[in-house]
Amino acid sequence: MRGCTPRCLLLKQLFIKRIILFLAFSPEQHPIVLQIGGNNLNNIAKAVELAKPYGYDEINLNCGCPSSKVAGHGCFGVRLMLDPKFVGEAMSVIAANTDVPVSVKCRIGVDDHDSYNELCDFVYKVSSLSPTRHFIIHSRKALLNGISPAENREIPPLKYEYFYALMRDFPDLRFTINGGIKTVDEANAALRLGAHGVMVGRSAYQNPWRTLGHVDTAIYGAPSSGITRRQVLEQYQVYGDSILGKYGNRPSIREVVKPLLHLFYTDPGNGPWKRKADAAFQHCKTIKSFFDETLVAIPDYILDAPVAESPPGREDLFVNTLSLMPPPYEDTEQKVLLEA
Ligand SMILES: Cc1cc2nc3c(=O)[nH]c(=O)nc-3n(C[C@H](O)[C@H](O)[C@H](O)COP(=O)(O)O)c2cc1C
Repeated sequence: MRGCTPRCLLLKQLFIKRIILFLAFSPEQHPIVLQIGGNNLNNIAKAVELAKPYGYDEINLNCGCPSSKVAGHGCFGVRLMLDPKFVGEAMSVIAANTDVPVSVKCRIGVDDHDSYNELCDFVYKVSSLSPTRHFIIHSRKALLNGISPAENREIPPLKYEYFYALMRDFPDLRFTINGGIKTVDEANAALRLGAHGVMVGRSAYQNPWRTLGHVDTAIYGAPSSGITRRQVLEQYQVYGDSILGKYGNRPSIREVVKPLLHLFYTDPGNGPWKRKADAAFQHCKTIKSFFDETLVAIPDYILDAPVAESPPGREDLFVNTLSLMPPPYEDTEQKVLLEA
């Protein structure tokens, strides 16, 4: 992904129970955020301390994952939104153990706790109890009633109006919008409406070349680098071979290559490339040999083409957003105090 866009921010996740996962990253992956998932303050503190020498640019707490492994049995992820006081404490612990900015990734609600005021109570409490000044908002609520994580990214409706209302009601905080944004046109439309940042999830993963290949020019205004996928893969090969098997037998070839598997999405040769990749995973010992064996499936004119025109965005994505914004936040706790 970094090969397609040297500028955008990458997010790497660490669930505390799986702390042996790889914290190391190469210098060209900056700027990079470490996301932590957990619900035990001591373990959260230890995880942040452990990550410190690696030099992440920001530490983020996951308050948005609805997976039953995480929000159910694990009791963290989006379930933490129901306990803003704990999240405030956790963010204070994180901030006390790091020198870099801290942020929270969350949804706009959970099950029936989905009013705008409850979302504001969460943001208000977390930001008052801790130094958190940045929230990444997946602009749909999570349903913990047994639907799958994939369904939880589709079924609850997007409410961008809650996102922009947060920006109106908490002008001292920074908000990054997330959910359903697929192209750089749409990201630019979100920025024009005032968002401080845009997070793109599935589109960046499912179609990295056409989504991320435009980010540096269309979002950051950089001149076009003219880079091709052959060049991206040449750089990736050096990186991939340098980390392959660095920790015993991990990362494996499959793990190193996984982020590339959609690089030729819908292009000629994509199907044969994936079939060759499946076979090559069984016996290749280096990323170089993997590419030598598989890339013959992709025509040269595809490998050597710079990124084509950006796909157009949906013009109606934010069409009624501002007119749908809920009334301004009433801080119920402050109101109770004033009335007492
Ligand atoms: C396979 C997969 C894994 C994900 N893992 C994480 C994760 O570890 N942490 C996180 O905050 N979000 C995770 N997400 C959610 C995305 O960050 C994002 O919030 C969600 O996909 C909505 O954005 P999108 O519509 O741009 O995809 C994941 C999404 C997918 C599809």
